[in-house]
Amino acid sequence: MCGIIGIVGAAPVAERLVESLRRLEYRGYDSAGLAGLVDGRIERRRAEGKLRNLEAVLAADPLVATVGIGHTRWATHGAPTTRNAHPHVAGRIAVVHNGIIENFAPLKAELIADGHRFESDTDTEVVAHLIDRELAKGLAPVTAFKTALDRLSGAYALVVLVAGEEGLIMGARRGSPLVVGEGEGEMYIGTDALALGPFTNRVVHLEDGDFVDIDHDGARIFDRDGEPVERPLRIVPIASALVEKGNYRHFMEKEIHDQPDACQHTLSAYIDPITSTVSSPGVDFAAIDRLQIVACGTACYAGMIGRYLFESLAGLPTDVEIASEFRYREPALGPGALCLAISQSGETADTLAALRWCKERGITTAALVNSHESTMAREVDVMFPTHAGPEIGVASTKAFTSQVAALTALAIAAARQRNRIGAGEEARLAGVLLEAPRLIADAILDDGWIAPIAQEIAKARDVLYLGRGAMYPLALEGALKLKEISYIHAEGYAAGELKHGPIALVDEATPIIVIAPSDALFEKTSSNMSEVIARGGRVVLITDAHGATHAPEGVSVVIAPHCDPLVAPLVFAVPIQVIAYQVAVLKGADVDQPRNLAKSVTVE
Ligand code: F6R
Repeated sequence: MCGIIGIVGAAPVAERLVESLRRLEYRGYDSAGLAGLVDGRIERRRAEGKLRNLEAVLAADPLVATVGIGHTRWATHGAPTTRNAHPHVAGRIAVVHNGIIENFAPLKAELIADGHRFESDTDTEVVAHLIDRELAKGLAPVTAFKTALDRLSGAYALVVLVAGEEGLIMGARRGSPLVVGEGEGEMYIGTDALALGPFTNRVVHLEDGDFVDIDHDGARIFDRDGEPVERPLRIVPIASALVEKGNYRHFMEKEIHDQPDACQHTLSAYIDPITSTVSSPGVDFAAIDRLQIVACGTACYAGMIGRYLFESLAGLPTDVEIASEFRYREPALGPGALCLAISQSGETADTLAALRWCKERGITTAALVNSHESTMAREVDVMFPTHAGPEIGVASTKAFTSQVAALTALAIAAARQRNRIGAGEEARLAGVLLEAPRLIADAILDDGWIAPIAQEIAKARDVLYLGRGAMYPLALEGALKLKEISYIHAEGYAAGELKHGPIALVDEATPIIVIAPSDALFEKTSSNMSEVIARGGRVVLITDAHGATHAPEGVSVVIAPHCDPLVAPLVFAVPIQVIAYQVAVLKGADVDQPRNLAKSVTVE
């Protein structure tokens, strides 16, 4: 799930390639590299680690080329070293690749037997050798590329530079995204429209199986059968300026503070504040007998909260499943089902595969996505937007609360359509939901409780999170947030499950974070807290002012704004995000780009 870019330029490209790679770092930041044509020869610069390392290499040894390709890597095959960084070069060919060549091992053995020498441990390098072997037989570059593609299995977006072919870049996609951009006397090719944003907003999304060659004059696209095809040109609303952190220390901190606006914008897509009505454009939930939510990670936890809402408000049978598991069984979904994918990026490979699985079986598909130009957004029958704006921090915050806000609105619309509520109740619930942005803002302002607690949690080796009802998915989300950015081992449990095993972990060194607003479930969760305290455990209770007055003796308290249970998942998401953020800062961790992770997971 790397990021790739290519420019056939009218002026030097190295700096612009780096600018694009900065926008693609959300896809991986293990290493980065460029290749360009200098006097018809391939020259390359590569560096292990973040993009700034490549910039240092370029500063010491500039690459002056007007045609070039670039890559930022999330390692799959081969350690994240300079030797394994893309572009990979063989003879006259330089290649950058996003995806996995599944049959690389037999191909590599064949090529070695044929006299080819490999210099990396990657799957990608075989592609460079395969094309170069065809070129050496005298084939034209485009034919050599097509012939090599026929040998590959797996997923790829490939961009290729050929020595001696000034002004030519070739690309192909199967299973990984690739777009072509049109400029003035220049052409671009890259992973997504965001990468091309500084240069053009005129993009063509290649379809699966497409192959393209571009030069200064334009692009020629061929489909999987080799037939020339036209793909629609889209004008995409992408600002050329890269999102900045402003006065915030990290993007995650900024994005936590963006949440009131993000939720407000998202809700405005579903709620008409004048009529107090809630809509679900494109879907009539009365015509649906089952909702199947598929998603990964944080987005899946948003889906779990959605399930509580769709079932309790709308009486709509709802299942939520991790997309990577969904696709490997035979889910029994009938024609009345709706498959709803939830995804910030709209590119997550497993979620996309689950959607496609449903589509192939004639099941209606929808996606709740933040990237409105993404593959999911384009492939589904109905796109539900979140309007969180670009989320840069790898740990999802504002995308999550925007997903929860949108799901809450959709559940209200579903309840009305299914005659579970009347217009009066619809208006009341819409009013409650419209209060959420203000309550989230209050929760962000009121974070003074957290600093001393973060100090304690930063010393822990293990942390448990507990919650009941809609707070259970938040417990899972809290644990995920903490482990991914602070590297502290954390687990989330349904509070009632504690005594079925996890209570054995309770000791004075393991903080237990309990998320419990003062609702109908508070007393039961309070009993679980007492069980922990009786065994010497340290409890941090995240509750509201009323809950705090009923907290068992000996717990540390974080107070969030009092709110209606409908919006509690939105309001209580804030303290768990802030705890994870503050702990990670105290530990000196790389908050926005944690180790081993990438923002968008486009491999299975
Ligand atoms: C965790 C996080 C991930 C993503 C997951 C799905 O903070 O961000 O768990 O939620 O990788 O990504 P999307 O939403 O892009 O499909």
